[in-house]
Amino acid sequence: MFDLATSKVHDEARQGEAYAPFENDPNVYTKRFYIESYGCQMNFSDSEIVASILAGEGFGATRNYEEADLILLNTCSIREKAEQTVRKRLTEFKKLKKQRPSTLIGVLGCMAERLKAKLLEEEKLVDIVVGPDAYRTLPGLIQEADGGHKAVNVLLSREETYADISPVRLNSNGITAFVSIMRGCNNMCSFCVVPFTRGRERSRDAHSIVKECRELFENGYKEVTLLGQNVDSYYWIPSNDSDHKTGSEGAVSFAMLLEMVALISPDLRVRFSTSHPKDITDDVLHTMAKYENICKYIHLPLQSGSTRVLQLMNRSYTREWYMARVDRIREILPDCGISSDIIAGFCTETEEDHQETLSLMSYAKYDMSYMFFYSERPGTLAQRRYKDDIPDEVKKRRLQEIVELQNKLSLESNLKDVGKTFKVLIESDSKRNDQDWMGRNSQNKVVVFPKGNKAHKPGDYVWVRVKECTQATLLGELI
Ligand code: 5AD
Ligand code: SF4
Repeated sequence: MFDLATSKVHDEARQGEAYAPFENDPNVYTKRFYIESYGCQMNFSDSEIVASILAGEGFGATRNYEEADLILLNTCSIREKAEQTVRKRLTEFKKLKKQRPSTLIGVLGCMAERLKAKLLEEEKLVDIVVGPDAYRTLPGLIQEADGGHKAVNVLLSREETYADISPVRLNSNGITAFVSIMRGCNNMCSFCVVPFTRGRERSRDAHSIVKECRELFENGYKEVTLLGQNVDSYYWIPSNDSDHKTGSEGAVSFAMLLEMVALISPDLRVRFSTSHPKDITDDVLHTMAKYENICKYIHLPLQSGSTRVLQLMNRSYTREWYMARVDRIREILPDCGISSDIIAGFCTETEEDHQETLSLMSYAKYDMSYMFFYSERPGTLAQRRYKDDIPDEVKKRRLQEIVELQNKLSLESNLKDVGKTFKVLIESDSKRNDQDWMGRNSQNKVVVFPKGNKAHKPGDYVWVRVKECTQATLLGELI
């Protein structure tokens, strides 16, 4: 509870998830791979690209690592806890390797980039280490490792976006999918390891994004979430202008991309994550207002409510700037859901700074937040410049206060929806009761309601009146 709240960004329930064998796959595979994914949605999305590259090499997926020829861990470095989990897992796989020496073990993702040589040489835990921009070289690295050599490629790229690789959707519900629109990050928030593990920001070809989304829709998907560390700075310039004239100079901004995806079909919902308070434009808000199928939900990480701390975090906005962005969202999109990321106990944070975070949460009336205590990461600006000087007990107490306030705000937000009617996209059976459907409204709230005797199915849009709620869920009935 302390470190991580459930989220679509860092979904606690999905950490360590492994892929099922490809569905309805006519191919026969001679080799099997097993992949576990950790961290943010971007990482889960990358695992689908890796699966696609491996399928091309004759590898089929398995959920049973004991029968795998290749075991991969797609890892996360964002907080220390994420790294510890992966290290524990690696020692378990090491035991398996003793019994089956031919099994290859590989580390992908953000830890690969951060720990490269250490994983290979000092700890001798793994055979292959591949960073987030080097997945295309995986087949060659597997061959090398098969030949008994340690294989490593953690080079970061300024260009790689995997634009041409169709991800294999393995653990999907067939209704909602994530589409990566950019990679890396240029923001240099002082607490964050991402610029070091994922490199410079680059935007993916807009037309390949639209093509992927259209194909998803044609295959029955009803919702796409456009993913990037900072979607508002998406900016794609075609290399051959005459081929793809879209804007005045053929360049595509995030607002334009949103519109292009929204126009695929009114029945395809569009979401996006993550927005940066310094970059989200009125253009984006107006585009959201213009299209019913662009969901009215913005994940707008605050991190801290104190201007002084925000400055140390290198967030490039003030408390007042953030409040003005919230006002603008409420003005242009009165029914928009807003969620946040908050860090408790960043270097030098005083009790007053903490109170400012709490008061800004109340001002923004977040529907939901992902809440963390500060975890110092090696190599980051904060680690080099500031002392991690807030004692653990203080961090945890402040985080607890943040969590309690958020629980109250979530309940208040849900209570306001009782009596309202929402268009809901059915995603699956409710976890608790297979007589109920679970879906989401445009604001990203989970809505649960009895199936009744109507023949609905996942992927259908239905209208649901909210009768009651908990802090996490709206409970309703079909109308
Ligand atoms: N310590 C705690 N939380 C962090 N985050 C990123 N880096 C750290 C860190 N070093 C949080 C931020 C970010 C989210 C994805 O993770 O809130 O928005
Ligand atoms: Fe995602 Fe950041 Fe974790 Fe890498 S370190 S997996 S980018 S959250």
